[in-house]
Amino acid sequence: MGLYTEKQRRLLKRWQQGKLARINILQGAVRSGKTWISLVLWSFYAAGLPKDAPLLMAGKTLTTLKRNVLEPLKDMLGEHFSYSLSKKEAQLFGRTVYLEGVSDARSENKIRGITLQGAYCDELTLFPEAFFSMLLSRLSRPDAKLIATTNPDSPNHWLMQNYLSRKDLDLLQVRFRLTDNTFLPDDYIESLKKEYTGVFYKRFILGEWAVASGLVYPMFCPEKHVKKYPVSQNAAFYISVDYGTLNPCSMGLWQVENGSAYRLGEFYYDGRKQNRLRTDAEYYGDLERLAGDLPIEFVILDPSAASFIAEIRRHGKFSVRKANNKVLDGIRRVSALLKASRLLFHPDCRDIIREFGEYAWDETAKEDKVIKESDHAMDDMRYFASTVLCS
Ligand SMILES: Nc1ncnc2c1ncn2[C@@H]1O[C@H](COP(=O)(O)OP(=O)(O)OP(=O)(O)O)[C@@H](O)[C@H]1O
Ligand SMILES: [Mg+2]
Repeated sequence: MGLYTEKQRRLLKRWQQGKLARINILQGAVRSGKTWISLVLWSFYAAGLPKDAPLLMAGKTLTTLKRNVLEPLKDMLGEHFSYSLSKKEAQLFGRTVYLEGVSDARSENKIRGITLQGAYCDELTLFPEAFFSMLLSRLSRPDAKLIATTNPDSPNHWLMQNYLSRKDLDLLQVRFRLTDNTFLPDDYIESLKKEYTGVFYKRFILGEWAVASGLVYPMFCPEKHVKKYPVSQNAAFYISVDYGTLNPCSMGLWQVENGSAYRLGEFYYDGRKQNRLRTDAEYYGDLERLAGDLPIEFVILDPSAASFIAEIRRHGKFSVRKANNKVLDGIRRVSALLKASRLLFHPDCRDIIREFGEYAWDETAKEDKVIKESDHAMDDMRYFASTVLCS
């Protein structure tokens, strides 16, 4: 085993021969060694520039930039690299590097007007396209370079449509596979593979640009996931709620033991279908009936359900947690749990079982989007999984 993987060595050779492009995009599977070599290239590049060359490193947020890039760079370079998030600045071989998080909708305004020699982008598919095109226009110095890493996304994504699939740009793209990283132990690779299913497996393990299509949870299988179990004395209990007045309201009662969860029961009410809307006070009664005598650790709700959260708090019986509502992260989490048979359902949970057969991706969307129908029990389950079963 050498200092670099074979794939990394080839890229390094290109750099030594002066064959990097203006835009260099390292894309592919997770843990495949993209960030590592991109930081080596970025460091070499910066070290060879005049001391006053303006540089920028950007990530989705400053926090992810720190975790993914700034800390590894510090480990790699020791005293040659230091940074301050509060100043949004780093020092790389004595050169000043501006740091930027791009998640803000108007983030491109932050770089409007500046001139750059070099830019580094972490997780490029998570950038707004407007920021990226602004960034390219700011890289106006001769021989300016951009180095970016990313995992693949949908083939409809702006990065694929407007950059990677074009032949007329000064752009180098290198695809990394999981097997390219020969530093990873086999059992680690095997456990990584288990974490991803469906379209996420294609993207994050195989490194393919794949559309999210069909059912969101194709791995759900009644024979495997629907079972009758008794209530366990040693378990912890939770209720998750996707609140709706005009739209359906769904609540799930969960029993958690040894890292696995069992949906013991549910409440589901469709105000439109029933031609009558329920009040928050009535929903509170439904919540109490669902809980029965079980000691509920807390109730998890979508953060937008302000009136119902207030209603629950007023009674002082249940504690309340606002759910983590990052949709795609939650879907990935639920997928992995289903694949591992760590989410199971009582046969009486008819509405969630029905929604499993209907909840689908919107294949016409430019980015990953679910069709916002049959997503009520799906959402309460997702809130539960990403708040309680998050590790
Ligand atoms: N040349 C190398 N020498 C030693 N370790 C390496 C090398 N390249 C990669 N690694 C190891 O492999 C791990 C994954 O590499 P890296 O972070 O570059 O992957 P990545 O492709 O950026 O993954 P992700 O898509 O998850 O961000 C690193 O944490 C590091 O420990
Ligand atoms: Mg990376």
